[in-house]
Amino acid sequence: MREPVLRRMRAADLPAVMEIDALSLPRPWSAAIWRGELESPHALYLVLEEEGDISGHIGIRHVLGELHVTTIAVRPQRRRRGHARALIGAAFAAYPEARLAHLEVRPTNAAAVTLYESLGFRATGRRPRYYGDEDALLMTLDLAGDPSRDRR
Ligand SMILES: CC(C)(COP(=O)(O)OP(=O)(O)OC[C@H]1O[C@@H](n2cnc3c(N)ncnc32)[C@H](O)[C@@H]1OP(=O)(O)O)[C@@H](O)C(=O)NCCC(=O)NCCS
Repeated sequence: MREPVLRRMRAADLPAVMEIDALSLPRPWSAAIWRGELESPHALYLVLEEEGDISGHIGIRHVLGELHVTTIAVRPQRRRRGHARALIGAAFAAYPEARLAHLEVRPTNAAAVTLYESLGFRATGRRPRYYGDEDALLMTLDLAGDPSRDRR
C-alpha cells in the first residue's frame, strides 16, 4: 500500500468530502458553502488521499496571524490511524508565522476533544448555544510556544 498523500482540496473532491461529512457531522455543509470556502483567499482546505480515495479533510482560515480550524473529518472506517493528526499538522505547517490556533468543538465529542488535547489545545472559553442544541467549547493552541514548530 502506498503512503497517504496530503494535498489541496479541489472542487472535484467535493462529492467524496461531502459523503465523509454526511457520515461524520450532525450538520454537514451544503455544496454552496463548500464552494465558497474553496474560493476564499483566507482559507486552506486539504485532503488526505489513500490509493486514490479520500479518507479525510481539514479546513483552516487564516486571519491576522491566527488560525481557525473550520472543519475536520475522517472516514469512519479509517479512523484511529493518525489521519486527523496528520491533517492538522500539514495545515498548520502551511502557516509557520501563525501564533495561535482556535477551534470550536462540542464538549460531548470525546474523540475530537481528546485529539485536540493530545496536540496541546486547551479549553479557553465557551460559546453559548453555538450549535443551537449545545454550547461549543472554544479551544486554543499557542503555536508560538510550540518547540516542534518550524519558524522559518
Ligand atoms: C475527531 C476525528 C477527526 C479524529 O480522526 P482520527 O483520524 O480518527 O484521529 P487520529 O487517528 O489522528 O487520532 C489522534 C488522537 O486523537 C485521539 N482520539 C481520536 N479518536 C479518538 C476516540 N474515538 N476516542 C478517544 N481518543 C481519540 C487519540 O488521542 C488519538 O491518538 P491515539 O490513536 O494514538 O490514541 C474523527 O473521529 C472524526 O472524523 N469524527 C467525526 C467528525 C468530527 O467530530 N470532527 C470534529 C468536529 S470539531
